[in-house]
Amino acid sequence: MKEHRGRLTKDGIRIYEQGDFAGMHAAGALAARILDDIADHVFPGQTTGAIDGLITQMVEDAGATSATIGYKGYQHASCISVNHVVCHGIPGDKRLKDGDILNIDVTVIVDGWFGDTSRMYVAGKLPRKAERLIQVTHDALFKGIEMVKPGNTFGDIGHAIQAYVEAHRMSVVRDFCGHGLGRVFHAPPNVLHYGRPGTGAVLEEGMFFTIEPMVNLGRPETKTLADDWTAVTRDKSLSAQFEHSVGVTADGVEIFTLSPGDKFHPTYSS
Ligand code: MF3
Ligand code: CO
Ligand code: CO
Repeated sequence: MKEHRGRLTKDGIRIYEQGDFAGMHAAGALAARILDDIADHVFPGQTTGAIDGLITQMVEDAGATSATIGYKGYQHASCISVNHVVCHGIPGDKRLKDGDILNIDVTVIVDGWFGDTSRMYVAGKLPRKAERLIQVTHDALFKGIEMVKPGNTFGDIGHAIQAYVEAHRMSVVRDFCGHGLGRVFHAPPNVLHYGRPGTGAVLEEGMFFTIEPMVNLGRPETKTLADDWTAVTRDKSLSAQFEHSVGVTADGVEIFTLSPGDKFHPTYSS
């Protein structure tokens, strides 16, 4: 039987307890450490399938469980989304080329707690346009995270992200959103990356959710390929995404998926 912790708000959002933050930190730290450790394995000529194989091994070596293997029929420990792939890219035998940008998204389960995070990588030399896209997407995530505190609303988060992205003449994907998580992978609320200030559910201490904006250089529309997973930009423009799992505290936010090696944002010096 499923264990129930805390209580639900009128919007169906679970309020976790003080002691539950430790479990989320453990799960988040593992997911983030795996994303740190995979960085050296991203290079031109490498396949996304090989990267996913390494991630599968890292999850196993940690004694943890992949949340994505077996999830709705998905068969891999990561989603790897290259260039115009928006999200849910399936790892395979395609080789990365110099200048490709990719999002790697990993979700692990540690002692029943879910840690979900993704970030951007580059194979070889980063093209100028992609660098701007990655920077804006990264900074947009943190504009959203800055809004996380009791009393603010989910609309405040979405608005902060959308306003920042659109000020840079890029677009926010509407077809996918962040989500509550905790003892489950995907729970209420839908965390939209666009919106109006003051709208949506009010944030309360003890809410756990992801913020994971997808940003396109071109138009926001996506389509899903025949494999039923891979989402791409309709106009073939480049897309980027960053994701953190966070918890609302009495006076702000804790990020569960902080990079232990401070590698969340790719550094472009070489
Ligand atoms: N980790 C993704 C998210 O951020 C979900 C991936 S589900 C999968 O919610 F099945 F595609 F792996
Ligand atoms: Co997520
Ligand atoms: Co994710």
